[in-house]
Amino acid sequence: MQVNNKSIINILAIESSCDDTSAAVVSNGVILSNIIANQIVHQNYGGVVPELASREHQAKIVPVVAEALRQANISKKDLNAIAFTRGPGLLGSLLVGVTFAKSLALSLDIPMIEVNHMHAHVLAHYIEEPRPQSDFLCLTVSGGHTQIVHVHSPLQLEIIGTTIDDAAGEAFDKAGKMLGLNYPAGPVIDKLAKLGEPKFTFTHPRVDGLNFSFSGLKTSILYFLQKQMKTDPNFIKDNMNDLCRSIQDTIVAILINRLREACQQTGINSIAIAGGVSANSALRLAIEELASELDGQHFIPAFQYCTDNAGMIAIASTFLYDEQQFADQDIKPDPRLAF
Ligand code: KG4
Ligand code: ZN
Repeated sequence: MQVNNKSIINILAIESSCDDTSAAVVSNGVILSNIIANQIVHQNYGGVVPELASREHQAKIVPVVAEALRQANISKKDLNAIAFTRGPGLLGSLLVGVTFAKSLALSLDIPMIEVNHMHAHVLAHYIEEPRPQSDFLCLTVSGGHTQIVHVHSPLQLEIIGTTIDDAAGEAFDKAGKMLGLNYPAGPVIDKLAKLGEPKFTFTHPRVDGLNFSFSGLKTSILYFLQKQMKTDPNFIKDNMNDLCRSIQDTIVAILINRLREACQQTGINSIAIAGGVSANSALRLAIEELASELDGQHFIPAFQYCTDNAGMIAIASTFLYDEQQFADQDIKPDPRLAF
């Protein structure tokens, strides 16, 4: 296997942990392409169907990789390493990306770099300026995770708070399902909330430490809707925008209050958001307000680097390449890969 020590290092990165097939090329820390193919087949099922997701990855991975290389204007023989998401995620989905990466690395005789999907969401902040220069706290909010991560350095990440049940994105998606919205409901709630008022109040959880809980909120929304629909069958339809606004405001307040506490406990006032829910407009605004309240800096990734994308896998792999941390050919995907 050839480990290149030349001055230009090109890495192809592959992300296939859930329902987006993505490939990106990074050259000396600069992202040259970031192709993302979404899967719309899950929309009518209220969530990702694992079997359909892996089949879609199989169908899309070759054209997505080809397009990433084409846009970057890099040929396969110019690649120095192949990076891939090892986990956490859906086994069948991860298998497609891992197997593809292994085959390509073997045929090109170049090293492979395994990347932890949750690390990559955080490291997306190193893709564009302004890049964090010192310790910061990152609120990672996705469909499967809700974490407050203390970032000591790109390769030294520590979870200081996490959800004890549902993730923030799951709270958006499940609330949306109760409102009759398609999966993923987060972006739709975001859009409709802009037209509504926060008329309704829902339970805020009581959880120890810097942890989160969203299952109580889910139950509170369900009981509230059931009660209202008994007396007014059109309640959801007639109050859709206000319901979306009220649900969104509650989720954002729960997240921001905990992050504020984390800042107070650690004395860190540089804050960031990452993961799919960081595309939420109210959360983006709230993080900016919290930073100004704390007189600190805030970091918000560009939209294309919020939801699942290979650009974040690519940037994460550059730090590992610098440390020559390569994966072996017998590596397997790990759906529950530890942080
Ligand atoms: O990080 P991600 O793309 O995939 C996972 O690793 O889970 O996150 C997907 C989650 C979904 O729950 C989706 O509803 C949510 O991110 N999401 C949003 C928005 N855009 C995506 N939630 C609220 N507002 C948005 N604008
Ligand atoms: Zn993700």
